[in-house]
Amino acid sequence: MPALVHERLDAVLAQAARDAASPLTFCRRWLGWQPHEGQRRWLTAPWRNVQVLVTGRRWGKSEVAAVQALWFAVTRPGSRQGIVSVTLDQARLSFDVAIQLCEREPLLRALVRDLRMTPFPTLRLKTGSELTVRTAAREGIYLRGHKFHRVIADEADYLSERLIDEVIRMTLADVGGQLVLISTPRARRGLVYRELQRGLAGDPTVYAQQGATWENPNVDHAYIQALRERMTQAAWMREVEGQYVDDDAAVFRWADIQAAYEGVVYELPSPPRPGRRYVQGVDLAKHEDWTVHVVLDATERPYQLVAFERYQRTPWPAVAAKIREVHQRYQCHQTLIDATGVGDVVLDEVRDIARGLVFTSRTKLDLITNLQLVIERHELRFPFIRELVDELQAYAWDDAKLTTDCVMALALACWAAGPRSSVELGPSLWS
Ligand SMILES: Nc1ncnc2c1ncn2[C@@H]1O[C@H](COP(=O)(O)OP(=O)(O)OP(=O)(O)O)[C@@H](O)[C@H]1O
Ligand SMILES: [Mg+2]
Repeated sequence: MPALVHERLDAVLAQAARDAASPLTFCRRWLGWQPHEGQRRWLTAPWRNVQVLVTGRRWGKSEVAAVQALWFAVTRPGSRQGIVSVTLDQARLSFDVAIQLCEREPLLRALVRDLRMTPFPTLRLKTGSELTVRTAAREGIYLRGHKFHRVIADEADYLSERLIDEVIRMTLADVGGQLVLISTPRARRGLVYRELQRGLAGDPTVYAQQGATWENPNVDHAYIQALRERMTQAAWMREVEGQYVDDDAAVFRWADIQAAYEGVVYELPSPPRPGRRYVQGVDLAKHEDWTVHVVLDATERPYQLVAFERYQRTPWPAVAAKIREVHQRYQCHQTLIDATGVGDVVLDEVRDIARGLVFTSRTKLDLITNLQLVIERHELRFPFIRELVDELQAYAWDDAKLTTDCVMALALACWAAGPRSSVELGPSLWS
């Protein structure tokens, strides 16, 4: 290495050491990044073995996690950190922010040794520190055997307790590393909830912080306020106020939703296989909503979700073409679409392959009751899809104002898979 580069690197490292005491100085001098008040508290919190951050959506969790991971990598030479989440995409949200900062900020850029994307995204600094991304998929197989000084579990409430306890904690055991749990609240009584309570109750090994979306001045507050009428009170408390709530009125129990995606190893779309019986359910977009297609392999129970598509603002003929294409790709036994209102127009174009169901309060009750049974009895498996999982959790019987596209597409597919004999469906309901 030429002497000049050495000198430059030495200067950078010397500055890193000077800034080490204060993450806020690091944010200002190295990143030109200004934390909001809640993020400032989080960054300057006392060091604990477990740090828990539970807030509303869009609070700035992933961004502050990225900043903090960089600070740690710069100031703790030779450290290894992992960002873990339920899917690689989810875990990459923070990692990608860290990469962008490394590309943008000259001081950091000078410290980057290399960036690899395979087999897992990994950033290595000239300090010998490493930041890598892992998914919790396949029972944590990509984590086992690794050692970390710090693991950040983003959206930790989607992860199973067992995985956090038996796999993630093990990766930290050798060096007494730090576990960082970051999440929007999901399951009251779950592990993140309990760690949060411990921290709030003054346990000296846990630092806990909560916050509402409003703490982030960088998101549009009017937009968020406008979502209120589209959410149940419980969903609002969770997603915006960042509070765990008892949700006795929930149609789908969180533990059952989790059971549907936990341990699922295949990816979407899963290609059609000969001899299987497939069905398609389609919920059509009204106004600004989404059109969602769900394909199930309904050969036996548990049914497996094999294809999922969700899109917006697409002209009817294109939607009809898509329904036909999916139907033919999977040689569907049945395709069932929501024929309410404008759905009629689409149905007209695909009547030769699809059946339509007009939503009335009665048909909807039948559909949702059926889906409720399927989920409660663990007769459905799907790879983690955040929109679907969140919609299921937020669903309520009084759904007039809720976003329900994923839930209804799934309910239609489950209905097409074979309505239960106990549920009566008058022929007049079918159009
Ligand atoms: N300190 C900050 N300065 C400027 N913008 C910020 C800051 N913190 C967060 N943001 C912006 O706020 C938005 C939400 O941030 P982020 O995605 O980190 O939130 P989140 O809590 O992880 O959200 P989600 O619940 O959707 O995962 C992003 O557009 C992000 O760039
Ligand atoms: Mg996030």
